[in-house]
Amino acid sequence: MCGIVGAVAERNVQNILLEGLKRLEYRGYDSAGMAVRSPQGHLQRRRTLGKVAVLEECLVAEPLPGRSGIAHTRWATHGRPSEHNAHPHQSGERLAVVHNGIIENHETLRRELEAEGYAFISETDTEVIAHLLERESRQAGDLLAAVRRVLTRIDGAYALGVIHAEEPDVIIGARKGSPLVVGVGIDEAFLASDPLALLQVTDRFIYLEEGDAVRLCAGGRIEVFDTEGAVVERAVQTFEHGDGAASKGDYRHFMLKEIHEQPMVIAAALEGRLGERSVLVESFGPDAEALFRQARQIHIVACGTSYHAGMVARYWLERYAGLAVQVEVASEYRYRQVVVPEGTLFVTLSQSGETADTLAALRFARQRGYLASLAICNVPGSSLVRESDLTLMTQAGPEIGVASTKAFTTQLTALMLLTLALGRLRGQAEDEQANLVQGLRELPGLVARVLELDSAIEQLSMAFAEKHHALFLGRGAHFPIALEGALKLKEISYIHAEAYPAGELKHGPLALVDSEMPVISVAPNDELLDKLKSNLQEVRARGGELFVFADEQVGLIEEEYVHVLRLPHVHEALAPILYTVPLQLLSYHVAVLKGTDVDQPRNLAKSVTVE
Ligand code: AGP
Repeated sequence: MCGIVGAVAERNVQNILLEGLKRLEYRGYDSAGMAVRSPQGHLQRRRTLGKVAVLEECLVAEPLPGRSGIAHTRWATHGRPSEHNAHPHQSGERLAVVHNGIIENHETLRRELEAEGYAFISETDTEVIAHLLERESRQAGDLLAAVRRVLTRIDGAYALGVIHAEEPDVIIGARKGSPLVVGVGIDEAFLASDPLALLQVTDRFIYLEEGDAVRLCAGGRIEVFDTEGAVVERAVQTFEHGDGAASKGDYRHFMLKEIHEQPMVIAAALEGRLGERSVLVESFGPDAEALFRQARQIHIVACGTSYHAGMVARYWLERYAGLAVQVEVASEYRYRQVVVPEGTLFVTLSQSGETADTLAALRFARQRGYLASLAICNVPGSSLVRESDLTLMTQAGPEIGVASTKAFTTQLTALMLLTLALGRLRGQAEDEQANLVQGLRELPGLVARVLELDSAIEQLSMAFAEKHHALFLGRGAHFPIALEGALKLKEISYIHAEAYPAGELKHGPLALVDSEMPVISVAPNDELLDKLKSNLQEVRARGGELFVFADEQVGLIEEEYVHVLRLPHVHEALAPILYTVPLQLLSYHVAVLKGTDVDQPRNLAKSVTVE
């Protein structure tokens, strides 16, 4: 998804902007660009199609010296990926703008501006902002006033960065519906859509709120204005995760690094949240206990991988907390006439906390009479966190690989904490809770043991490199794990994969099974194991090749075309977390064999901040 970087400093900003763009590459993009105000007072711009490295080469040939500038990575929404659609956009030679989000009324504005003689060069919605700014800057007293006038004309979501040739060393930023942070430096100031872009220059950030505008000036002066235009104080927060998270270290890909971080981050997700025999309900905040006591139902809303985490939690919350649970993808939920029974807790799950559909669902839910909203999220200061009544941070640290891995297993860990918190308040047997708490304590060590199976899984992956399809099977809480396994394989290896609850096999998908269709199954030692074994026989009888990830205590015999990989025994309820890991490794190795762009798969963005 698009990324913004801006800088006003007492030194040349080109390399700060370039490094910022590189740090945003993980989000997915198709073109990049930069505009800098030269020491002579001219705006100069470079834009290129493809990777930031191409822009870098262009800047070596034609550098952009100057002390203030803005830069952008674009992920096409309006208009195909091309140099002329890349940001920054200009109107004439005096001003440049970068934009994340979507301007919904851009067609009407475009007609209005064309009628006034403005010529459009790109197919983007953003170009209307550039021309509106050009028009307003002639009448308004300064650039900030011009931006504020433009904001009253545009509908939709935006994070903006603007510079003007005649306002030296000033950047104006504004946000509504898309994230934007200000980096606080020493005598310099920065702007970015994601703090990660600026960790090379600062770890102190102001997270702008909805409707805020900001003026960054020479000398590091920062003024934030609310929707009414009044100057407001916004807290400066120190970024919690070290810069190490933004580098691959010794790993070939971020995704592999993040898979291997799971023992550590699951432990971090549990830290300070477990008592000796029960979960500490206070981890959810001071108001949580009173609200949780009133909860009668739960609605969980999320997208993609986070949605799969919600699906697993449904099994847990029903079984251990006795609560009715509904789980839905945010893009569907937000357009339904949802019926909300009294005492319903609204839970959102999101790695980024900026997913447009999930955020819109939260805003929609706030009008529907829910008991309260809880965000389980990985990014402190994100919109979802700021707009929810209760939050539980997943503590996974920055996740760079587009395919979510550690964010998912820490979400599951957090959801088990939620299950236990609600269970405890609703009379769950003390021994049952104590067993689960002990199981959680052992989990990081068990995940580390699964990671030791990496080379065995790499061997298995070879059977997939030439395949075009794959089928994932699971039962109960492992059906969502099968869905997640299929999503991972699709996302990074581009192999078509489907997932089914194993019991559904004979109701249709069995027709697809032959020697060309590898079937992957998760077989923990749970009450559904015998049924799953029968399903696996159905596959073998049709010539399908089976890859089974099974509990070491399960008596599954390896034979020709039946590959069994044994996993350490784990508390039955926590098996979905453990069994996720080999599926992540399998997808990773298949993608490496296929030579795809593992960390930035085609067509995908890390954080989907547009609808
Ligand atoms: C995960 O591998 C995906 N790339 C994607 O499905 C992701 O989980 C989804 O876009 C939701 O993102 P969020 O967790 O940041 O809200």
